[in-house]
Amino acid sequence: MNVDRIRSDFPALDARADRPPPVYLDSACMSLVPRPVLRAMEEYYRDYPGCAGRSLHRFAEEVGRRYEAARSAFARFLGRDDPRGIIFLRNATEAINLVGQGLAWSRGDRVLISDQEHNSNLIVWQRLVAERGIRIEVLPLSADGSFETELLERHLAGGVRLVSLFHTSNLDGRSLPVREVTERAHDHGALVLFDGCQAAPHRAVDLDREGVDYYAVSAHKMLGPTGTGVLAATPAGLERLRPLLLGGETVETSSLTGHTLRPVPHRFEAGLQNYAGVIGSHAAIDYLARVGLEAIEAQQREVNRRVTSALEGEPRIHPIGPTDPAERPSIYAFTIDGVDPNDAALFLDEGHRVMIRSGRHCVHSYYESRGLPGNLRASFYLYNGVADAEALVRGVRELLERLPGRPVSGTSAARRASPPRRGSGPSRAAGSTGAAARSVPPRRTGVRGRAGSARGSG
Ligand SMILES: Cc1ncc(COP(=O)(O)O)c(C=O)c1O
Repeated sequence: MNVDRIRSDFPALDARADRPPPVYLDSACMSLVPRPVLRAMEEYYRDYPGCAGRSLHRFAEEVGRRYEAARSAFARFLGRDDPRGIIFLRNATEAINLVGQGLAWSRGDRVLISDQEHNSNLIVWQRLVAERGIRIEVLPLSADGSFETELLERHLAGGVRLVSLFHTSNLDGRSLPVREVTERAHDHGALVLFDGCQAAPHRAVDLDREGVDYYAVSAHKMLGPTGTGVLAATPAGLERLRPLLLGGETVETSSLTGHTLRPVPHRFEAGLQNYAGVIGSHAAIDYLARVGLEAIEAQQREVNRRVTSALEGEPRIHPIGPTDPAERPSIYAFTIDGVDPNDAALFLDEGHRVMIRSGRHCVHSYYESRGLPGNLRASFYLYNGVADAEALVRGVRELLERLPGRPVSGTSAARRASPPRRGSGPSRAAGSTGAAARSVPPRRTGVRGRAGSARGSG
């Protein structure tokens, strides 16, 4: 795999007069978009800007054809035989909500989740506890990434209606054994939903072979445009669901007193759709398929191995999750003693143009139960090479050098620190290189300007 060639396809990584190329290590939040995806979306607006399934003119016909071609492409990409199982939505969150709101629940039905789920696979069930009387069971996960089958069995034996777990964790990059969980859940009569947000961008999934009932993905984590996602379900799984939204496109016919729903998948796609997004997402998975997911995963493993081993000997750095980077190839998550994670993220961006994520990564319960304010997460994708790993390590080393090693609040430590070396990063707005050191108010006391979104809500 030629990383330099791949990088040249991503305009966000281009060097510009006012900006050297960024070291983008936040793909677990949102991946960058390659030119073929941008082109596909522009072509839609430029060449055939119609809406599918309504008008009969050539624009409408062309967009309808491309939209359904995207459905078939996603079915192939995710290992579903029947493209009718692919529902286009805004994101994985909407896909999980569709299942949560769509199944017919009875009081006392149990949903099994892990103790490391993204809020998108937690809050939806909490609402159902309050509104429909379901019960949430929590499967505790080990710290080292191993999976305890017996614990799963014990929960399943108690009677579970739906098992809803991440496939790959956004917190520490570990993956769960999809096939094994699915087989065991089915043996006990439970349905299975996997949140595939962090898995589908990085590894081949074969949903029909693995028997998964529902699988949620966000295309904007796999080179697609924002606001595009998919629920990939079995046709039987979809038949069980009540649509989340109704309106145009969802009905065969209607009168002033009633309506007949269209067959799946159309009954789930209400209103005029995100055609450019879906068509762009099709170009994204074609791009991934051309490069090859195996090659992508191998590359990430190598980049992650470099970071992991370079920082291994640092006593103030504590990686989270499996120790072997091969078991979490897309993510290196860590804490730094004595440094607030948000300050560290600002320091790396300001001084080293290294963009990583800080905060609680939408898994608040994990941090609350450990008394942690959050942590740092570098996430890798196909455009990250060894140079990115080195830039991250350089930045972290400088941070360690400049900030005292005392286990004090990182926020105040960062305020006392001198700004990062100017020479090692871009100079932006006056004084911006000192942002991490300059102006971060203590945690809990208020909203910070630039880091507002990094406070852990996401
Ligand atoms: C594991 C996991 N699940 C769900 C989500 C929610 O994805 P989206 O916001 O695209 O719906 C994310 C996003 O970071 C995630 O990492």
